[in-house]
Amino acid sequence: MKGMVFTEFLDFVAERFGDNMVDDIIEASAPPSGGAYTAVGTYSHGEMVGLCGALAERTAVPVGDLVRDFGDRLSDTFARDFPDFFKRAGNLFDFLASIEEHIHAEVLKLYPDAELPRFVVEERTAARMVMLYRSPRRMGHLSEGLITGSARQYDVEVRVRVEELEAGDGTASRFHIELV
Ligand code: HEM
Repeated sequence: MKGMVFTEFLDFVAERFGDNMVDDIIEASAPPSGGAYTAVGTYSHGEMVGLCGALAERTAVPVGDLVRDFGDRLSDTFARDFPDFFKRAGNLFDFLASIEEHIHAEVLKLYPDAELPRFVVEERTAARMVMLYRSPRRMGHLSEGLITGSARQYDVEVRVRVEELEAGDGTASRFHIELV
């Protein structure tokens, strides 16, 4: 997993829970890399799982809620660092529909070792969109947050209903996204 995801995650933790919490969760999860993450590095996805678990334990906030809130915040960083992806798509649904073929395809050119999910747009009207998420990394909650955060970049609000698929193991989910 790319270092920028880790550095952004730890910024999120510091903002919401304070700098000490960052030190605490690194110490508690004892990541093999040592926890001195740099944006240009690449680290095992397991380290992210460990950090999130340690955070959930200390804050009594469920992991899924934490990851969702992180995704929502991460969209502000994406909008700042990759404004062209947002400009190129005229609206939220065009933007979401462009993740698979355009955005993540470009990410992969930039970082050939990026581990990315698969998205399939199953239905789309002016007011609602249904998207399927698949990834062995089970980060559907991150997607949910990235969807609501991306909506904010376009000044619209959405309601997202998440349908867990495949025995609820997190590797596949369907997002029902409605403009409100
Ligand atoms: C400008 C927009 C975006 C950029 C630049 C971007 C870039 C990235 C990058 C760099 C990663 C990390 C890959 C790795 O660590 O190996 C990633 C992962 C991911 N992205 Fe995006 N992304 C964008 C938009 C989105 C949106 C809108 C969604 C959700 C609807 C999304 C869903 C995900 C998920 C869930 C992952 C975690 C990996 C997984 O689930 O397998 N991304 N993306």
